[in-house]
Amino acid sequence: MKAKIAVLAGDGVGREIVPEAVKVLQAIGEKYQHTFEFTSADIGGQAIDKVGVPLPQETLALAKQSDAVLLGAVGGPKWEGLEYSLRPERALLGIREALGLYANLRPAKVYPNLVDASTLKREVIEGIDILVVRELTGGIYFGKPKGIEKLPNGEERGVNTEVYTTEEIRRIGKVAFEAARKRRKKVTSVDKANVLESSELWRRVMIEVQKSYPDVELHHIYVDNAAMQLVRNPRQFDVMVCNNIFGDILSDEAAMLTGSIGMLPSASIGAKVGLFEPIHGSAPDIAGKNIANPIATIASAGMMLSYAFKLEKEAEAIEQAIVKTLDMGYRTKDIQSPGTRVVGTTEMGDAILRNLS
Ligand code: IPM
Ligand code: MG
Repeated sequence: MKAKIAVLAGDGVGREIVPEAVKVLQAIGEKYQHTFEFTSADIGGQAIDKVGVPLPQETLALAKQSDAVLLGAVGGPKWEGLEYSLRPERALLGIREALGLYANLRPAKVYPNLVDASTLKREVIEGIDILVVRELTGGIYFGKPKGIEKLPNGEERGVNTEVYTTEEIRRIGKVAFEAARKRRKKVTSVDKANVLESSELWRRVMIEVQKSYPDVELHHIYVDNAAMQLVRNPRQFDVMVCNNIFGDILSDEAAMLTGSIGMLPSASIGAKVGLFEPIHGSAPDIAGKNIANPIATIASAGMMLSYAFKLEKEAEAIEQAIVKTLDMGYRTKDIQSPGTRVVGTTEMGDAILRNLS
């Protein structure tokens, strides 16, 4: 097949990990005779420095004309003082919204060899395989009113609004149930229905959606309890469906079960062009040192092959190459444990490349 891939490396470690994933995609293309055409564009702080905005029109236009987008990370201390609408993070929200990517899939799986890299005990995390389905274009991230206003008494008032419509909940619910059907057939819907009206509606709609999926179990859990259960007994979860902010928070937590946030890929789908990115950020503290873990990004490229191009065999090849590389003892710093071989970003990418067979 032929596919156009927009490459948006962004800031910080994004600039180091994305080339590793491109390398792997190129090798897959050669091996399985696909033509992947890569075009790079600026996003985030890098774009601010060049053209003054985090998501330039050309970048968005490129993304829209592509068959899939590979993204690294955005942000860094250099741009933290900027006004909200100009911050690098806006580019992420902007591109998700502009492409209509309402569903974000974040799989948290423990590779057997990495069990010891986790801060949690082996017996707690062994065998976990969770899919966080995060709503991505609604909720408090986008709800209005929002902003910071001056009050007559000289104080200020910061406002954001958590808001969901029936349809927004229904469509993310369907994504979760469809995913669960291909897995262990259990959806846990995360909400705060004991306090928030938007959550009450969320819960009601999930119950409605489940009626079309009688083969899939639906459970409800309050978000505070979900945070606790994730470290207490994570194996109880199969698919967790969350609103935007709960999904943001719980997916970081789920990532740490797997040993490192540097391991978790994601796929943002729901529209014509999908976007694939690691769930971690730009990690300015370790950027430029060739120590960042490229696996989350390489695995995101794997998700691209599967979700955007339906190339299941090729996606599986990437997954197997990652497993093999870990089996051989290769580790970046974040996942090292006694007796393993610590390598840098490019060496990890090279090792995965060699194991693509
Ligand atoms: C994520 C990130 C982003 C988010 C930030 C960088 C805007 O934390 O993708 O999880 O909150 O969605
Ligand atoms: Mg996050």
